[in-house]
Amino acid sequence: MTPLKATPAAESARAAAAKRTDEPTKPRGKRRVSMSVINFWLDATILGALLLLGWESATLQFIFPAPTLAAGWTLFGLTYDQCRDIQFATLCTFAFGILVHVMLHWNWVCSVIATQILRASERPDEGMQTIYGVATLIILLHVIGAGLILALFFIHRPPPV
Ligand code: HEM
Repeated sequence: MTPLKATPAAESARAAAAKRTDEPTKPRGKRRVSMSVINFWLDATILGALLLLGWESATLQFIFPAPTLAAGWTLFGLTYDQCRDIQFATLCTFAFGILVHVMLHWNWVCSVIATQILRASERPDEGMQTIYGVATLIILLHVIGAGLILALFFIHRPPPV
């Protein structure tokens, strides 16, 4: 019996299947760092940043005198203003760490919202998750921006003496 000639569609399906089975045997180059290890070090870093932020904030709040009376006071040779700048830099570092932390768990966030909160039958695919992520980031940045603009309108300069 002569074997049947494969149709072009069957041929391309076979080629695709062969490609899939070939993939794990491709040379991998350098050993990849596991995502758990990346998560561990990122989590440790944001925990460290949170502790530092807490210490800096408590120091400015309780150890220094009130900011209006802190002229001339120093801690480790740094003035109140310099300490507050460092506190803000720590906050930015912490916020960036949290951003990456949530990005690495974005699939989990989208899946929980879709299946447990919205009770949808399907979770969004990767493309939609990226769109939701970028949209969420844009909304959050606009909320912060709107808050700053609001403060800009309501801040008052003291009357000239
Ligand atoms: C000091 C701050 C934080 C620390 C130390 C921390 C630590 C952790 C740890 C240890 C895990 C589990 C291990 C992992 O997969 O990475 C985790 C998971 C997670 N974290 Fe955080 N986290 C912090 C802040 C946040 C914040 C602010 C958010 C959200 C805005 C967040 C969202 C999540 C999510 C969605 C997961 C995945 C939950 C799961 O898979 O069950 N984390 N975090």
